[in-house]
Amino acid sequence: MSNVLGIIMAAGKGTRMKSSTPKVLHKVCGQSIIDYVIDSVTDVTGNKPVVIVGHEAEKVEKHIGDRAEFVLQKEMLGTGHAVMMAKDYLNTSCEYVIVLAGDTPLITSETLNNLVDYCKENDYSATLLSAIIQDPAQYGRIIRDSNNDFERIVEFKDANEEQLKVKEINASMYCFKTQDLAVALDKIENKNAQGEYYLTDTLGILKSEGKKVGVIAVDQQIEITGINKRQHLAFAEKIMRERINNKHMDNGVTFINPDDTYIENSVIIENDVTIYPGNILQGKTKIEKHTTLYPNNRLEDSIIHEGVTLQSSVILNSEVGSGTTVGPYAYIRPGTKIENNARVGDFVELKNANIGQGTKVSHLTYIGDADVGSGVNVGCGVVFVNYDGKNKYRTVVGDNSFIGCNVNLVSPVEVEKGAYIAAGSTITKKVDEGDLAVARARQTNIKGWVEKSGKWGKKK
Ligand code: UD1
Ligand code: CA
Repeated sequence: MSNVLGIIMAAGKGTRMKSSTPKVLHKVCGQSIIDYVIDSVTDVTGNKPVVIVGHEAEKVEKHIGDRAEFVLQKEMLGTGHAVMMAKDYLNTSCEYVIVLAGDTPLITSETLNNLVDYCKENDYSATLLSAIIQDPAQYGRIIRDSNNDFERIVEFKDANEEQLKVKEINASMYCFKTQDLAVALDKIENKNAQGEYYLTDTLGILKSEGKKVGVIAVDQQIEITGINKRQHLAFAEKIMRERINNKHMDNGVTFINPDDTYIENSVIIENDVTIYPGNILQGKTKIEKHTTLYPNNRLEDSIIHEGVTLQSSVILNSEVGSGTTVGPYAYIRPGTKIENNARVGDFVELKNANIGQGTKVSHLTYIGDADVGSGVNVGCGVVFVNYDGKNKYRTVVGDNSFIGCNVNLVSPVEVEKGAYIAAGSTITKKVDEGDLAVARARQTNIKGWVEKSGKWGKKK
């Protein structure tokens, strides 16, 4: 059992995002900012963190669901005030508490672990994460005493000229002994430039009472990046993309150009998959071994089995069997399952359809709401007419049948196995096993029509 509790401050509005979406719900590589923070904190503590919500609290709570406990901060009176709202949780059995903001998606569990270990090993009352920054701008400055030990934090707006020159800043990520935090929180005041209750003041109070406060420098400064505007969001996206793609390369995936390959955090990829540029893999997508993604596919919530070849196609909430090839320019819409060794070619749209093993749908075809068997050949320009303007119906095509070019199958209709449909037919009635259906006007040739009509010039 872990003895560490996580507290995540997420009540702020995030004005500079200029968005109707709460800041912490903005996405980085397909996952909300706060999800990354919750994951890292939970990794360390092994229990649900407490999230301080305020601005758009309902939306934030709904998104997070049962992955956290929530405390409402009705008024934004500062970071110290935010943590005070979680006071009830500070009397729990957790000996230590991690406190950080919900807008730092790049923080890793390793760094938070180091912060906690450092606190425990040295028996500090609190430890805080720091960084040396050449342009420390609006960060709180870490002020050290004559022994070069931590003394207190001075906020940018309260700092004098000397203090503003300090380049060692507070990253706003802390580990406290729970009881020491609870006692110090009772003592903070809001007599400062912003009229806020600063969480940072608790550290100075602990130190002034003779307790030990430790400062630990973050190894990788990018980890403390807070998201305050869209430029920060794009930066975090870039860093996270690198991390995700590196993880897959470590697992044996080949990227022709990782900088131009966009894989969400939730995607699973097996080894010996090759990915060309311009691929976007989203949601609960899984790609099995030896599959090749040629350029420019977008896959969402889809399972691609072994040895598949995809090119320039969109696949949504569907499954593609082993050895099948898809594209270029196929559009596979939700509810489609393609079996092994099939072929779905250019300008083919599939929706809510089962396509059997070895079946070929090579060009310019729409198949919606259908069960197509194995070994079927669907010609060029075939339309499964699944909609009568009011309702949608299913079409069934049996194994080893042959659907000629430019055929319409008007559903509900069935073509039994081994049947043939002549090119250009519009099929409205069931076709029995082994039969040929021809449903088109018979061709008539009118002898000498061209000359007789006089319109098209005289015969020489
Ligand atoms: C804070 C630190 C500063 C540090 C900086 C790092 C304080 C007083 N200062 O300043 O030393 O260098 O972070 O980024 O803590 N929040 C609430 N409720 C509130 C106020 C804030 O939930 O009443 C949340 C915000 O949503 C935000 C986080 O706490 O995620 C930080 O708040 P913010 O006001 O941005 O603190 P800074 O001024 O950046
Ligand atoms: Ca047609």
